Amino acid sequence: MKILLVGATGLLGPEICRHLISAGGQVRALIRRTADAVKRSELVGLGVELVDGDLKEPASLARACAEVQAVISTASSTLSRQAGDSIESVDEHGQLSLVDAARQAGVEHFVFVSFRENLRIQFPLTRAKRAVEQALKTSGMAYTILQPSYFMEVWLTPALGFDVANGAVRIYGDGSRPISWISYRDVARVAAAAVRERSARNMVLELGGPQPLSPREVVALFEAAGANRITIETVSETMLESQMNAATDSLQKSFAGLMLQYAAGDAVDTTTSGRLFPFPMMSVHEFVAIQLARG
Ligand SMILES: NC(=O)c1ccc[n+]([C@@H]2O[C@H](COP(=O)([O-])OP(=O)(O)OC[C@H]3O[C@@H](n4cnc5c(N)ncnc54)[C@H](OP(=O)(O)O)[C@@H]3O)[C@@H](O)[C@H]2O)c1
Repeated sequence: MKILLVGATGLLGPEICRHLISAGGQVRALIRRTADAVKRSELVGLGVELVDGDLKEPASLARACAEVQAVISTASSTLSRQAGDSIESVDEHGQLSLVDAARQAGVEHFVFVSFRENLRIQFPLTRAKRAVEQALKTSGMAYTILQPSYFMEVWLTPALGFDVANGAVRIYGDGSRPISWISYRDVARVAAAAVRERSARNMVLELGGPQPLSPREVVALFEAAGANRITIETVSETMLESQMNAATDSLQKSFAGLMLQYAAGDAVDTTTSGRLFPFPMMSVHEFVAIQLARG
C-alpha cells in the first residue's frame, strides 16, 4: 500500500513514517522546497519517497496524490509557518485542496489529524478543522478523523510556559479541570495504524491519554517525583476570553482559543478509540519520570 503523508517534517510526521514503514507500507511525503536538509535526509534514511509541494499549491497536491491508496495529513500552520501561511491559507483552504486532490486521484482512505470539539469555544482553527472534517465526510473517500487532546510534549514543556526545570509554570485558567494529556507518539501510532484498520473507516475518533489530570495535579506529580518547588502563574479565563475577542490575527485568536479550551478542561471518553487501538498509551506519570530523568 502506498501512503502519502503531509506534515512529515513536523513532530508527528517522522514517527508516523517509522510506524508505516515497519508495517511494510510504502511512504511518500509531501515536503516543502525549504525543508531542512537534515530532516530530508532522515526521511530518506527511513525509506520515504520525497515529493516537493505545498498545501497552498494545488498542482503539487495532484502530483503527490497520484497512485496512492491512502493519505495522512497532520500539517498545520500553527507552529510551523512561512510567508503566506495562515490558518485560512493552510489549515483551511490548503487542507480542503488536499481533500479535493485526493478524491480526484481516486485515493481510498484519508486520515486527518484534527483536534477536539468544544462547541462553546469557537475560533479560526476550529472553523478550519471542522470545514475539512465536513469535506471529508462528503468526499466519497473513506475517512478517519482523529481528535486528540493536548500533547504532553507541547503543553507540559517550556514551549508553552510549563518550565519545570526552572521551577516556574504557566497554566491557563485556574488549573483545576482535568485534561486527557496525550503523547504525540501515541497519536502518531494511531494515525499509522488507522490506514490498515478497516473498522476505523468513516469514524471520528477522540484520543486522550490514560488518565485525565488537572494542570495542578500535574504540577503536584512533578513535585512528588522530585522536581524542585514549582511556582504557578495563572492566566485567567476572563483574560483569555478578552485576548481571543481582541485579537485581529487568526493565529493569535486561535492560540487564545486553545488556551481557553484547556482552561475549560478536556477529559476524553476513549472507549471507542481504545477498543479499536488497544495499545497502552503513555501516562503523565511516565512522562514526568522521563522529563525529570533528562534533567
Ligand atoms: N499540539 C497539540 O497539542 C495538538 C493537539 C491536538 C491536535 N493537534 C494537531 O496535530 C497536528 C500537529 O502535528 P505536529 O505537532 O506534527 O505539527 P508541527 O510540528 O507544527 O508540524 C507541522 C507540519 O505541517 C507542515 N506544513 C505547514 N504548512 C504547510 C504548507 N503550507 N504546506 C505543506 N506542509 C505544511 C510543516 O512543514 P514545514 O516543516 O515545511 O513547515 C510541518 O511538517 C496539527 O494538525 C494539530 O492541529 C495538535
